[in-house]
Amino acid sequence: MDFRDCFGRDPEGVWRAPGRVNLIGEHTDYNDGFVLPFALAQGVSVAAARRDDGVLELRSLQSPDPVRVTDAKPGQVSGWAAYAAGVAWALREAGHEVGGASVLIDSDLSQGAGLSSSAALECAVALALCDLYEIEVPRPELARIAQRAENDFVGMPCGIMDQSASLLCTEGHALLLDCRSGLSAQVPLDLTGLSLLVIDTRAEHELVDGGYAARRAACEKAAQVLGVAALRDVEDLAAALRVLDDPVLRRRTQHVVTDDHRVQAAVGLLRAGAVAEVGALLTASHLSLRDQFEVSWPEADVAVEEAVRAGARGARMVGGGFGGSVIALTPVDREEQVRTAVTEAYADRGWEAPRFIDAVPSVGARRVS
Ligand code: GLA
Repeated sequence: MDFRDCFGRDPEGVWRAPGRVNLIGEHTDYNDGFVLPFALAQGVSVAAARRDDGVLELRSLQSPDPVRVTDAKPGQVSGWAAYAAGVAWALREAGHEVGGASVLIDSDLSQGAGLSSSAALECAVALALCDLYEIEVPRPELARIAQRAENDFVGMPCGIMDQSASLLCTEGHALLLDCRSGLSAQVPLDLTGLSLLVIDTRAEHELVDGGYAARRAACEKAAQVLGVAALRDVEDLAAALRVLDDPVLRRRTQHVVTDDHRVQAAVGLLRAGAVAEVGALLTASHLSLRDQFEVSWPEADVAVEEAVRAGARGARMVGGGFGGSVIALTPVDREEQVRTAVTEAYADRGWEAPRFIDAVPSVGARRVS
């Protein structure tokens, strides 16, 4: 099925936005901290054309049911279409005149794998609508508009990382993003002799569920008790931990503050060309997400443990947690052992076989035709 079959005409263009893997800095974005994602080669493509009846007609090659909306408001659209309709809404809320469009969506990112298929969809649609209606928005601002679509239209209180990664990443680099100032820098990610193996644990996550929102609320509560604007501002962790009585808030704070430090350390190592040494930071981040932030899941813990045992330099869960993927920084000559070890460990436990993707730091969102 192509655009012409769906809509009886040719598209005016095709846009593509990638998914992401976050190298390190997890649950730091909404704490005004630092993240270090890179774009995947996998992503979402949209072919689109304007229409003059004001209707937004959405079709997806991954779903049988087309969705038609006009001037949709939060709460009126659900499922995958909400991410796209939400972007049209958020652009209008930001004062941009967006008319109707016919949109055909295709994705080679599995949903629920923690690789930001939703942000990729938002960003591809955002670029398409901006181009079609000659709206000029700087990309950091467009990331905020896409985030607003997800926060206020879809109802998922995500931070700014995924949309920024999709829109701002460049090939061969990770993106160091200061989530408070919005400033970013491209950090070379030279993987010579190493690979970044994504292990899709096949435990699907659903971030609209309460766990993510509860983590975010706990962080805000901790910052309030500590009298800082956000956990990013905690300078003396030991002192902060003495002030917090609630053991849950202590654990959440410990993770956020130490993961922010790990981002800085990772950037230092990457800039020094010591990529393999980032591995130890990845594993430390995972243990912190498992024990302090409590967002990892059994399949992730086993994947990390087995990958490291089989020769990965380090591994961690990526994304919001409660399901999704693990990334393992692996010497190329150990990749086979890592795949085998994780696959066998899953089989021993009767779990569905994991899927592997070689993550290649790739170009960000763009018009492709
Ligand atoms: C999800 C959110 C991001 C970020 C991560 C955790 O991917 O969309 O904003 O908070 O979880 O780092």
